[in-house]
Amino acid sequence: MPSISKVAYTPKNSSFSSILLSSEQNLRPASTAPLKPTLILTPFHESHIQAAIYCAKKQGIQISVRSGGHDYEGLSYTSPSKHPFVIVDLRNLSSISIDTESSTAWIQGGATLGELYHKIAEKSKTLAFAAGVCPTVGVGGHFSGGGYGMMSRKFGLAVDHIIDAKIIDVNGRILDRQSMGEDLFWAIRGGGGGTFGIIIAWKVKLLPVPEIVTVFNLTKTLDQNATQLLLKWQYIADKIDPNLLIRPRITNVNSSQNGKITLQATFNSLFLGGVNELLSVMNRSFPELSLVKEDCTEMSWIESILFFAGFATSESVDVLLSRTPLGRVYFKGKSDFVKQPISENGLEGIWKRMLEEADGLIEMEFSPYGGRLSEISEYSTPFPHRAGNIYMLHYAVAWNNVSESEEKLTWIRRLYSYMASYVSSSPREAYVNYRDLDLGVNNDGNHPSYKVASIWGTKYFKNNFERLVHIKTEVDPSDFFRNEQSIPPFSS
Ligand code: FDA
Repeated sequence: MPSISKVAYTPKNSSFSSILLSSEQNLRPASTAPLKPTLILTPFHESHIQAAIYCAKKQGIQISVRSGGHDYEGLSYTSPSKHPFVIVDLRNLSSISIDTESSTAWIQGGATLGELYHKIAEKSKTLAFAAGVCPTVGVGGHFSGGGYGMMSRKFGLAVDHIIDAKIIDVNGRILDRQSMGEDLFWAIRGGGGGTFGIIIAWKVKLLPVPEIVTVFNLTKTLDQNATQLLLKWQYIADKIDPNLLIRPRITNVNSSQNGKITLQATFNSLFLGGVNELLSVMNRSFPELSLVKEDCTEMSWIESILFFAGFATSESVDVLLSRTPLGRVYFKGKSDFVKQPISENGLEGIWKRMLEEADGLIEMEFSPYGGRLSEISEYSTPFPHRAGNIYMLHYAVAWNNVSESEEKLTWIRRLYSYMASYVSSSPREAYVNYRDLDLGVNNDGNHPSYKVASIWGTKYFKNNFERLVHIKTEVDPSDFFRNEQSIPPFSS
């Protein structure tokens, strides 16, 4: 991570490229982007952002806000629309203050999830927050789109626990919940980043966790009955004790039996309690997985954060403070929502398509619903995917060489198209934090029309799309804050 001492970097500055690349998780968007940013701003103070908005409006330049840089389509650091743009990179605005008495935290918009989790654990063993798994994801983008994590069945999404926020609007004003009003406060909790203004801080309610939680990561290949286990999982995933979240991930591996490529299901799981209680839940609801004590590890909540991020739990929690992406690859992701269990034949058909992509890094992740996640009304925040879903699907393919891009994109699009009969329809729902420009883009990012935007907008937000458009029309009628998938105002 380059050292940042200045507020503005032009392409002539020797650090420009390293700062631009430093938080790019996905190498694909930049590999096809027609333009580099005119300037990268790394504000140290809110007034620097206000000045940036003022100047950008005057010069007719677009602003892309970057928090953790994990946008799937790189919208925080590229402009596929060929419109000149400036990056406002919030990495210097990343302080976090925790108040254990009220169980609340103020988090600046450039902080990462890792920094948040680290800070909470520094102050308390029994407070936590429910958000995503990857520590280098930024709260700016993540909280703007939802925030699913290993405690979502118990507590819901990150957005369900935001109780205040500070935003800089199109007129450069700093507004909090009271001064922005309940409509805008509703819209920023899930309506997608880069649309309504620049979030400079979030206030969240912290959540109670036991001092001891239990994790397991049980792996079964197709030869070890993975299909049957996944079949059964679909019937218990959303109904099992909400203290337990079992999130299977299907990946390709070399078979130990014949060296050929096969698939394996990793049952990634967190239980908010001790191992004995977990075993009795599993024996009651999912005995087929044959979970035994030796498969499980008791640990603190913060150690479970390290565990799910792929670190050894003996590692210092300070690794959570690193902002450098854990692995930098070219990748494409997509999402779906499943409301009826997929049959055994259906699963086998999916495996067949996954095995066609033998040499790529592929993954299909099944994120269970139920519990608090499904109890919250679909209108409570812009994130509408609530009751009625058994699980959310995430598809991903990653590769190391730009020359492979077309082949990998073709593969994932084919898989997505094959999945149509197994997933939600009318609309075919998608999760805005797994942003996918294949679902549609505004007119080249330039002042989109409502009709064009509603194609992707109803997939992400269902009936909430309409309310988001109304709010955008109120707060940013000239559509200053925009990107390929930002909410348009009515007039455009
Ligand atoms: P980034 O900085 O790229 O911003 C994303 C979008 O929000 C951009 O449009 C940007 O302009 C805008 N934005 C950023 N900061 C803003 C601010 N302060 N104000 C207004 N707009 C702002 N999701 C999930 O739910 N659960 C998970 O476990 C994971 N795990 C995960 C792992 C990895 C490796 C990746 C790459 C992604 C995920 N995600 C995820 C998806 C993640 O939630 C999503 O990509 C977020 O938008 C990333 O937020 P960042 O701030 O990092 O991105």
